[in-house]
Amino acid sequence: MTDARPAAVVVLAAGQGRRMKSATPKVLHAMCGRPLLGHVLAAIAPLKPGRTLVVLGHERDQVEGFLADALPGAQIVDQDEQNGTGHAARLALDTAADLTGTVLVMHGDTPLFTTETLTAVLARHTEAGADATMLTAVMPDPTNYGRVTRDADGHVTGIVEDRDADERIKEIQEICTGVYAFDATVLRDTLARIAADNVQGEEYLTDAIGLLVADGKSVVSVVADDWQETLGVNDRIQLADARRIMRDRIVAHWMREGVTITDPLTTWMGVNVRLEPDVTLHQNTQLHGTTTIRGGATVGPDCTLTNTLVERDATVVKSHCDGAQIGAGASVGPYSYLRSGTVLGAGAKIGAFVETKKADIGADSKVPHLTYVGDATIGSGANIGAGTVFVNYDGVDKHHTTVGDAAFVGSGSMLVGPRDVGAGAYVAAGSVITDDVPAGAMGVGRARQRNVLGWVFRRRAGSRSADAARQAGADGTMAEESKASTDEAQQGDQP
Ligand code: UD1
Ligand code: CA
Repeated sequence: MTDARPAAVVVLAAGQGRRMKSATPKVLHAMCGRPLLGHVLAAIAPLKPGRTLVVLGHERDQVEGFLADALPGAQIVDQDEQNGTGHAARLALDTAADLTGTVLVMHGDTPLFTTETLTAVLARHTEAGADATMLTAVMPDPTNYGRVTRDADGHVTGIVEDRDADERIKEIQEICTGVYAFDATVLRDTLARIAADNVQGEEYLTDAIGLLVADGKSVVSVVADDWQETLGVNDRIQLADARRIMRDRIVAHWMREGVTITDPLTTWMGVNVRLEPDVTLHQNTQLHGTTTIRGGATVGPDCTLTNTLVERDATVVKSHCDGAQIGAGASVGPYSYLRSGTVLGAGAKIGAFVETKKADIGADSKVPHLTYVGDATIGSGANIGAGTVFVNYDGVDKHHTTVGDAAFVGSGSMLVGPRDVGAGAYVAAGSVITDDVPAGAMGVGRARQRNVLGWVFRRRAGSRSADAARQAGADGTMAEESKASTDEAQQGDQP
């Protein structure tokens, strides 16, 4: 196989992307876990180019910030005024004044190209010993793309931009994809001769092809196998189209790797998600960031997981998890919210309507219903009753509470942090716990119940409640009334 390693790759990413109508530069719009430009860089990386130049202009600092992380070795070329793709390429070639050999040029707004396709263009270029090789595609709807013109023998003669095209040219379905391999020296000479004599008054890189053909240089073309790969993103409709195609690709990849995806059309995930064989994903599931799911686990329906680890055989249903770790065989949901710093031990259970944050919950512990666990460490085998709140915030600071192994917190309790409920301790239902509960003790933090007898007969006389009480055998006897009124006097007669 020919060594098709390019001397350089130039990515044009200076345009504003006017049609996006956005404060964010077009190439930074996100799609499946990466900005558009990130997808382009990912396709380029395996080519191992000698250098990568990225032309920046509109909101250049924002894009530079992204590049500093994504590709620190990239050379930035400033195009302060965006006078067209030809102008952008010219500035790049000027910056790399010593560059010879093959340069691959592509756009920052075409996120679907695969490395294989780029490799095919480079291989063809090298094999043909061409001055320029361009990748074209036959589009069902070529509107807005530059059209490829060919002579009677089928040789490429040039590219006509949509805005400069007449009706006859507009019928051509073969388009310019914006991916080209050039001999750097030839390209440099040609770019210097491109004029801005077109409807947009810009220097078109596409004009380089016509100039090269007119000069008798060797220009060859490769037609893309899959036109969808060549889609450019100019507006948010095309962004959605591209995202859908990328989603289909990612989802198909994981199904081939042994993941069951019951409804691929409603399952979305980013490029940095990792899944193991025998994971099952049910409908309306979104996996973001570095979310990782291990074999045998089931996620969905209706889950959104971001940077979350789901260990083997765990189950997550209708829940939202961000920065959480869910232990082997654990179960979460429905309708729970696991926030960052949640670490759920093996076999633990988070039930319905539970919110957790910075919560380390031990193996086999249960938080089954309607509970908030914030800034907490819970041992193993503990049970947190329905409606418990870890009161972690005093309005100024956050406080941590610990609940020991096999402790039992009764329903409706408030654990006012910082507190320590010892191993095997019990908390009586409805307690407001403001002191530590020693291991093995029962903490009761509530007023003892009193019954004010006959209250309904006096204060709700004639009501349905009074009738029901009477039918149940109660009657406001003197004894009850007198005892009740004593009680009422003691408690200030509050209802
Ligand atoms: C361009 C091509 C068109 C092709 C299509 C493929 C030209 C003149 N037209 O059209 O033939 O079918 O791509 O997707 O090349 N850019 C700069 N500096 C500039 C202008 C643009 O860096 O001064 C960058 C943009 O950021 C973008 C890329 O070049 O990433 C393409 O520019 P865009 O305006 O989107 O061109 P299209 O109209 O899509
Ligand atoms: Ca474009």
